[in-house]
Amino acid sequence: MLLKDKIAIVTGAGTGMGKAIALRYAREGAHVVLAEINEASGQQAAAEVSAHDRRGLFVKTDLGKTESINSMVAKTMETFGRIDILMNNAGVTKKLDFFEVTEADWDWIHNINARGVFFCMQAVAREMVKNKAGKIINIASIAGKGFRGTSNISYAGSKGAVIAMTRIGASQLAKHNINVNSICPGATRTDLYDQIMKEIVQREGITEEQAIARMDASIPLRRSNSGDDIANMAAFLASDEARNITGQSFNVDGGLMWD
Ligand SMILES: NC(=O)c1ccc[n+]([C@@H]2O[C@H](COP(=O)([O-])OP(=O)(O)OC[C@H]3O[C@@H](n4cnc5c(N)ncnc54)[C@H](O)[C@@H]3O)[C@@H](O)[C@H]2O)c1
Repeated sequence: MLLKDKIAIVTGAGTGMGKAIALRYAREGAHVVLAEINEASGQQAAAEVSAHDRRGLFVKTDLGKTESINSMVAKTMETFGRIDILMNNAGVTKKLDFFEVTEADWDWIHNINARGVFFCMQAVAREMVKNKAGKIINIASIAGKGFRGTSNISYAGSKGAVIAMTRIGASQLAKHNINVNSICPGATRTDLYDQIMKEIVQREGITEEQAIARMDASIPLRRSNSGDDIANMAAFLASDEARNITGQSFNVDGGLMWD
């Protein structure tokens, strides 16, 4: 077991890659706090974590609100007494062309994907420094490195911010023995992926099968990720095996981007 008896927070853990990561962390021996805005999916995922004989604690959390982040961290400390791992996964987007992006779209996306990621890192790191240990993993995206097939420019900017904050966070938290890294997924089959595919279908008048086949054909290894592809990297980065890796942003994308 890579994460035996560790205490991990996974944001956006109700569905998609967050759920796959929460379940993988439990299989690796961690107790998991599922910080999720959707009560039904959060409770369900927490029950599945608990079925692995580990504690799965759902805490209803809105990453767009710092008071909600702070109370989730307080609840984690009250329940478990420490935090070893933060998996900053929650994120949102929708398909928009350049001229369609409104201020409301920008604020919605950046509030969760960039501001929420930072204030969650800050609130958790405040606890980690007390133990002089911690692993923070942010979910960025190859969009943050300029992937042309991104859902929209504002989303790409928010993920670029995550990559930059990963480097600065790693540099400023290193003296506390806290590692900060990112994962940059490519196309990954989740609810968010399905939503974007439906939006492409509507815009372009092609079938969903055609949209998916076109996406897969653009990937050198010819397959999009499952949530487990991301969970594999997330388990490694959260473990002691990655103790000397920090400030990095790793693509998991079948070869879509090199940088
Ligand atoms: N799916 C992809 O192809 C892809 C590619 C690159 C990056 N990503 C990133 O991966 C991460 C996970 O995406 P996914 O595809 O699993 O998405 P998803 O929509 O399937 O799951 C996201 C989860 O986050 C939760 N969430 C949304 N807003 C929240 C908030 N304000 N507070 C707390 N929870 C919130 C949702 O309820 C949901 O359970 C996101 O950061 C996304 O940007 C996804």
